[in-house]
Amino acid sequence: MTRVTLLLIISIVTFGLKEVKTSPVFQDDPGFETRIQTVVAGLLDVRTENVNKNRDNPNVSIIDYENQDIVIHENYTGGGKGRFLNDISIIKLRESLKTVFKPVLLPSDDEKHRVKLKGLGWGLYNCKDYSPENLREADGKYIDLATCYEGYAPKDIPESKLCAKFTSEGNSASVAPGDSGGPLVSFQNPSQPVQIGLTSTVSFLKNTNPGETCVNKDTPQVYTRVSSFSQFIMQYAPNAQFVQ
Ligand SMILES: *[C@@H]1O[C@H](CO)[C@@H](O)[C@H](O)[C@H]1NC(C)=O
Ligand SMILES: *[C@@H]1O[C@H](CO)[C@@H](O)[C@H](O)[C@H]1NC(C)=O
Repeated sequence: MTRVTLLLIISIVTFGLKEVKTSPVFQDDPGFETRIQTVVAGLLDVRTENVNKNRDNPNVSIIDYENQDIVIHENYTGGGKGRFLNDISIIKLRESLKTVFKPVLLPSDDEKHRVKLKGLGWGLYNCKDYSPENLREADGKYIDLATCYEGYAPKDIPESKLCAKFTSEGNSASVAPGDSGGPLVSFQNPSQPVQIGLTSTVSFLKNTNPGETCVNKDTPQVYTRVSSFSQFIMQYAPNAQFVQ
């Protein structure tokens, strides 16, 4: 997986349940700071110590990040009434990833790629205040927009978002703070995964304590729909590989 394991954003919106951007990035969100420091490909454990141990590993790419290397979508609205529209950024790497990495495919239309989904990320586990040591994953089920916000919130999920619900080893699961920007990927063809979504927002339960589940797993989680941003992506990443 090469793209966007590290696009991270947080802020909070209230309507019905809280809708929450799932992790740290931009300064317009008080209380959270920009955390992107290094872009790492090829490691599941991205703690500093393990990253430093792998600087000479031929199967790992470690590229230092500098602030100007990010293109934030010019129409990103943030939260509040903005509803986190155009919730996508592109990190421009200063050097290529090693050739052991193959770029994930991107859909020009995701209709054929809504099965065998996995959500991936280092987001908080049960809302403890630290990230898991290793990348975690859950099995995703695509939820159509009409069903997506049924029951609790304004129904106007735009076409530029998509929704999914998750299970992990038979239990319901969810993305969580720290997962933002992470991928929702179809492994229908395991040798050619297709990334259909970027983790965007979740519903939060109120008044939970560290160690308890803080995300409402009964409601779908909302993703930026990659196919809606193919032009934006191609403008800044002309080598991105799109499939029908
Ligand atoms: C790099 O990956 C190749 C292919 O999977 C493997 O044979 C080799 O042992 C790996 N090298 C290191 C240092 O992990
Ligand atoms: C941002 O919005 C303006 C006004 O609607 C539009 O002209 C422009 O193309 C949008 N930018 C992107 C990258 O979509």
